Amino acid sequence: MLHCLRSVFLLVAAAGAALSLSNTKPSTLSSGTLPIGNGNYMFYTDTGAPPGKSPYTTLFLIHGMSFNSGIFQKTKSDILRIVSVNRRGYIGSSPYTNTEFNVITNGTSAARQAFLADRGVELAVFIDNFLQQKKITQGKVSISGWSVGNIFSLATLSSVNSWPVAIKARLAPRIQSVIMQEPSAEILGFASNPNNWIPLIDTSIPASTRNPMTVQWISHYFKQGNFAVNPNAITWVVPSLSRVPSLFNMSPSEYNSIVDIGKATDGDFTLLINFKSQLHDSYRQVIFGSTVQKAFPTLKRSLFTGDSSVSFGPYAYYLVKNDTGAINDKSVTFRIVPGVNHFINWDDPKIASEVYAQLV
Ligand SMILES: *[C@@H]1O[C@H](CO)[C@@H](O)[C@H](O)[C@H]1NC(C)=O
Ligand SMILES: *[C@@H]1O[C@H](CO)[C@@H](O)[C@H](O)[C@H]1NC(C)=O
Repeated sequence: MLHCLRSVFLLVAAAGAALSLSNTKPSTLSSGTLPIGNGNYMFYTDTGAPPGKSPYTTLFLIHGMSFNSGIFQKTKSDILRIVSVNRRGYIGSSPYTNTEFNVITNGTSAARQAFLADRGVELAVFIDNFLQQKKITQGKVSISGWSVGNIFSLATLSSVNSWPVAIKARLAPRIQSVIMQEPSAEILGFASNPNNWIPLIDTSIPASTRNPMTVQWISHYFKQGNFAVNPNAITWVVPSLSRVPSLFNMSPSEYNSIVDIGKATDGDFTLLINFKSQLHDSYRQVIFGSTVQKAFPTLKRSLFTGDSSVSFGPYAYYLVKNDTGAINDKSVTFRIVPGVNHFINWDDPKIASEVYAQLV
């Protein structure tokens, strides 16, 4: 039944019809699909122009693993236009081809590097198409990746020399900021902490239940210590009882429209394991690399995490702070957001939009 619905959904999306991701309440978000090259297309939702503000900044949000862009549907802003895309393989957007999937599972190092650059180019094409179609000729552009979405937001910038020439000329000068929202060590190609635990990697859990267990577990609140300076202050496994987990604030139909535990999730997870050195190169290029610095000379880089988030957000915060601190303390702006967890966009969307407004 679910598969059947999904096929219908994809057909409708392919026809370019307007879609609403949430079927529980009418959404004010507009939506559509845009071509991203090679016959592929990407689904998006759009909050529209902020009333009375011109020019304004357009912020593109890239979702993580297992949760499509519907997770951002509550996040709206008085000063930003927020556009959320579904990545390849997630509902409404083109799935990966078998050839592309083979690169994720079995690609050579060169093929993996090209795959990552291709994903970045696709997003640059999408953003450029969106700005042109909506006639947004002025105003800054910002990109934020959430969780695994950081792989793709960072790849967008690190692939800049592979962008079509006209797009580079139009778009690069407008991209003024990149926001890293709770990446993990692995997403940035760092070594895992020896204490790292997540149901997805626990082989004592039956394979078919690792994903559903993971999406529930990461939506808890955790009592984290002073992780900015001490990774041993991180709580790795046991959630706190301080606040109801975010998935309890989601109706079954919202869950079904947002959570996607299938081939796309498997692809994300395999990529995370197999692309370690490519992911680290991409991260380092965006933070320290001369190619990115030359293409985006005034780029503001920032990273934020909730102080009550699942372990990996706080740990990545520590790692990037440690990494940049050794070289240049000012290269990244850091924020710890009190009281929120990995699902700030769902449980505290007002706070999320305030954080974005500060960091764009
Ligand atoms: C491709 O990757 C899969 C999953 O990592 C592995 O099981 C398989 O042996 C690989 N196949 C080849 C031909 O390398
Ligand atoms: C922190 O940075 C130092 C200096 O670059 C490095 O030697 C060390 O390995 C880093 N720590 C971690 C946990 O990555």
